[in-house]
Amino acid sequence: MHTNFIDIGKGQPSLSLLPLAAWRTASDHCLAQGDAALLQYGADEGDAGFRHSLAQFLSRRYAMPVAATELVVSAGASQALDLVCTRFTRPGDTIFVEAPTYFLALDVFRDHGLQVVGIPIDDDGIRIDALQDALAQHRPAFLYTIPSFQNPSGTTMSAARRQQLIAVSQAHDLLVIADEVYQLLDFGTAPPPPLATHCHAARVLSLGSFSKICAPGLRLGWIQGAPDALRLITQSGVVQSGGGLSPFVSGVMRSLIDLGLADVVLDGLRRVYAERSAVLCGALRELLPAVTFVEPTGGYFVWAQLPMGHTAAELLPVARASGVAFHLGTRFSRSGGFAAHMRLSFAHYDAPELEEGVRRLAHAFTVSAA
Ligand SMILES: Cc1ncc(COP(=O)(O)O)c(C=O)c1O
Repeated sequence: MHTNFIDIGKGQPSLSLLPLAAWRTASDHCLAQGDAALLQYGADEGDAGFRHSLAQFLSRRYAMPVAATELVVSAGASQALDLVCTRFTRPGDTIFVEAPTYFLALDVFRDHGLQVVGIPIDDDGIRIDALQDALAQHRPAFLYTIPSFQNPSGTTMSAARRQQLIAVSQAHDLLVIADEVYQLLDFGTAPPPPLATHCHAARVLSLGSFSKICAPGLRLGWIQGAPDALRLITQSGVVQSGGGLSPFVSGVMRSLIDLGLADVVLDGLRRVYAERSAVLCGALRELLPAVTFVEPTGGYFVWAQLPMGHTAAELLPVARASGVAFHLGTRFSRSGGFAAHMRLSFAHYDAPELEEGVRRLAHAFTVSAA
């Protein structure tokens, strides 16, 4: 057994990337203001000062106007998704997801007793023809999509596809839940504008989070949408009883944004992930040329496909014995598809570890193919 086991499936940042020093500076700045309201129950929609700073941050980073009135604070995208399910669905309802999609979102939908229908994607994102076919058969409570640098495929929905999706949403009164947690994590070329852009023209709720662009332990995110939809969220029992989400962390994040440190942290992460992605993809091309993948231009993931006749489930035990693991493709749909796929991530390991991980994976592939 390897002591330094490498789980290239793990989709979380390395500890070295978490901005401890910047957070300390922001905490000091925030606490020095002596405002005890930070420790009080907060407003249902979140602290007004934080929402103002967040709106300015998003307007700048999305390169489009975002108003504080369009934003409600969440305790991260997972919690926001759970809240959306509570407020917009009933057990037994059908929802649409992309196939493949984020595996833990599938668990949230399971918790709410939802029937999940997968809509295939291609290199431009969700397939509109397949969505139309599914809409002819079902009346979904919503469609869950990850438009940019999708988990697990790394795919970004093209601008044209986004327009088509919005047209379908308008024609069918389809609620679109856009999980946009990777939107700002490009490696130099911004993806098309977020689906949040359309939250007034169509029924779109956009979920954002500081998990991927700052630190997951903060449990801080936001929901962007039109006032009516947001009202339904803030009238939930949990928000009413708790008095808004994460007021203290929001206060420190407001300082991080206002001091310019949120931009520094985000740009640092984008630089490191771009380098690590290049290393992982280079190592795959050199050491494991049998797998195919599209090199990501942002986000966390490489969605690698084994050649015909191989399954990831057969490879995984051999890989484990060689000191490396990955996420099985089958975990990313309810239909049992994607048996030849592996989800790899470059977020958690540095360059030498990623190269070593791929070396072990290549060894395991040779052994399992023999
Ligand atoms: C698509 C997607 N949504 C949501 C999350 C979780 O976000 P949060 O930490 O804000 O709950 C992840 C984390 O892996 C993710 O990949």
